Amino acid sequence: MTNPEFTLRPERAEDEPALRELAEAIFGPGRFARTPYRVREGAAVAGELSVTAWCGDELAGSIRFTAIRIGAAGGALLLGPLMIGAKWAGKGCGRALIEQGLTLARERGTALVLLVGDVPYYERFGFRRVPPGRITLPGPVDPERLLAVELKPGALRDYEGPVQGEQDGSS
Ligand SMILES: CC(C)(COP(=O)(O)OP(=O)(O)OC[C@H]1O[C@@H](n2cnc3c(N)ncnc32)[C@H](O)[C@@H]1OP(=O)(O)O)[C@@H](O)C(=O)NCCC(=O)NCCS
Repeated sequence: MTNPEFTLRPERAEDEPALRELAEAIFGPGRFARTPYRVREGAAVAGELSVTAWCGDELAGSIRFTAIRIGAAGGALLLGPLMIGAKWAGKGCGRALIEQGLTLARERGTALVLLVGDVPYYERFGFRRVPPGRITLPGPVDPERLLAVELKPGALRDYEGPVQGEQDGSS
């Protein structure tokens, strides 16, 4: 069976109810206790990087990023949440959203993108494990799942220490 065509477009304010429903279905109320959520709490979403994927008029998926500082250094983003509706899983929607998100991030001059996720999935986009202890989040994270992609070659060298969300999202 061929994969459906996903239409990607920037997130809009009116998408919020559908996005909330998707988050509830995928992560449930437990999402508020996850460590990446603690970074995002009180930080500004990098709005111009928020992209939604649609199949007809149905929301299939969404990606967001938060501007972060790592130690003293800005210019980095935390990827997440990335959400694909169960009905659309494995049909290329995640790939389309990640590729689009990383393209936009590169265009705005982002040096490093960090995330907490499965290496077997994210390595295809260039994400690698962060050396243990180099970057810390405000809560427990399995070190096997703390991943980063350098959008500027060698960028990881410049990033060490605790992650904090940027208030103005402009990083
Ligand atoms: C994980 C997720 C983002 C993948 O998106 P998707 O649109 O289903 O994935 P794609 O269609 O782009 O890619 C499918 C491929 O990835 C593989 N894949 C999917 N999830 C994977 C995982 N966790 N580990 C390894 N491979 C995975 C599939 O087996 C498939 O492989 P193939 O290309 O060899 O057939 C999506 O399933 C999802 O939203 N899951 C729940 C929420 C989540 O975990 N979010 C990430 C943390 S914020």
